[in-house]
Amino acid sequence: MANTEAWGSRVGLILAMAGNAVGLGNFLRFPVQAIQNGGGAFIIPYIVCFLLMGLPLLFVEWSSGRFGGSKGHHSTPFIFDSMDRRKFWKYVGVFGIFTNVAVAAYYCYLESWTLSWMWNSITGEFSGQTQAEVATYFGNYVSLEDGAGHFSWMPIFFWLLCLLLNTWILSKGLSGGVEKAAKIGMPLLLIFGAFLAYKAITIKAGSEGATFDGVVGLNFLWSPDFSSIWEPKVWLAAAGQVFFTLSLGMGSIQCYASYIKKKDDIALNAMSAGWMNEFVEVVLGSAILIPIAVGYLGIDQVVEMTKSGGLGLGFMTMPYLFEQWGPVMAIIAGVFWFGLLFFAGITSSLAMGTPVMGFLEDEYGWRRKPAAWAFGGIVFLLGLPTVLFFNEGVFDEYDYWAGTVSLVVFALLEIILFAWVFGMDKGWREITDGADIKVPTIFKFFIKWITPVLLGYVFVMSCPGIWDKIMNVDIYKAISETTDPAVLESLHTKLLYVNISRAGLLLLWLAIAYLVYHAYKKRIKEGRFTS
Ligand code: PHE
Repeated sequence: MANTEAWGSRVGLILAMAGNAVGLGNFLRFPVQAIQNGGGAFIIPYIVCFLLMGLPLLFVEWSSGRFGGSKGHHSTPFIFDSMDRRKFWKYVGVFGIFTNVAVAAYYCYLESWTLSWMWNSITGEFSGQTQAEVATYFGNYVSLEDGAGHFSWMPIFFWLLCLLLNTWILSKGLSGGVEKAAKIGMPLLLIFGAFLAYKAITIKAGSEGATFDGVVGLNFLWSPDFSSIWEPKVWLAAAGQVFFTLSLGMGSIQCYASYIKKKDDIALNAMSAGWMNEFVEVVLGSAILIPIAVGYLGIDQVVEMTKSGGLGLGFMTMPYLFEQWGPVMAIIAGVFWFGLLFFAGITSSLAMGTPVMGFLEDEYGWRRKPAAWAFGGIVFLLGLPTVLFFNEGVFDEYDYWAGTVSLVVFALLEIILFAWVFGMDKGWREITDGADIKVPTIFKFFIKWITPVLLGYVFVMSCPGIWDKIMNVDIYKAISETTDPAVLESLHTKLLYVNISRAGLLLLWLAIAYLVYHAYKKRIKEGRFTS
């Protein structure tokens, strides 16, 4: 049965693509990355990476997607196969399914926190709590405890709810599900974001318990500091953030783009969705969490909290800070902030489901509904360890391998395929065909030379860090530095869980590779050629 999925309208496509990109990365990851890398020092590498890697890769992924789609392929293994027949590329394409599933496995858990924090804001759970109490609440939550030492079902309940919602929307298809979710979610998110950004920037020191003006945090972020230009660590973080936020190097953009008609524009669409993401990230993403947190807690404390808190920062601080605006505003701001995060999150996790579904539909003739449930089931199995063993480091392990390393490896290989194997002349034709804008010719040069070289450089520079991670250098160092038996035991437990998670991820990759192999054999047997 042919895969007959299609986008309903151009606006729907752009909103869905923007929804794919705009995610928890924009509101939670970006501020934390910026703070950890020195505020203003982060911005210059970030902008350079966006222009030299982000934009060119958007063109590459959108056009490869539409190209593969015109041949009836909707996931990267066979999209790549249609660009070059050598077997190698099919297996590179495995990353484009693997990453989505593995990221979805922890992303859905993170997304489910937004639902329960929204619920808690409505029921007034946080009212009267101190900053420390709100932070403790978060610690208990991820330990699946209720605060009195008992097991709590709440995190599991909200996680399952979130997973079901995703599966249900996916089972309604692109125009009937994904596009609708984006048409509701994106405008609401912009309204909530604009309101909170306004509140954040107008915070005045001395009123409502604030210590600093809202603009202090903004200045911290936006006063350019050139000292970082030569620091590889900051460049890696900046490149990583650009990839994560634009959903590049994942296979999800190619999948969405594969449902675009052959003669329809991709150049202007890619730019619209990409720039919309940057607007949400640098304007809204930087104008909420940091200005509010810094306004009440000061720069030093916020910097300190990001060291241990990471993605949890927005959950550990905001409910307390909103309380300072009075009981009614606390509810409104809480619902707006966590609601915004929820919409940002769900329009992204939906995108992670589509490549798997596309693969099952194209290769095995599955219908949409069972394909959606298959995705839900896989994410349930893979996600369960991130929920049950959050404190043992499973969640972070997934984020590192699937959400960081894979993206760079995949993007590097795909741009080589596009510019050097498929060929830049053909590639350029794919990008400009049907384009509603004139794509500046400089991008041809970028895609062929600058982006691959820069990406290769970033990858080589990150190799020592990746190797240390494989060897568990940090954990062994901590083990050698402690004599406390309790700490030692927890470190050894962590070591075990970290290694098991890696083995699990590796198995997942191999299982997908096997399916790709099997599907290819099946195609040959049935005489269905791949391009
Ligand atoms: N870009 C999304 C974010 O910023 C994350 C994402 C990654 C979405 C991969 C889809 C696919 O949160």
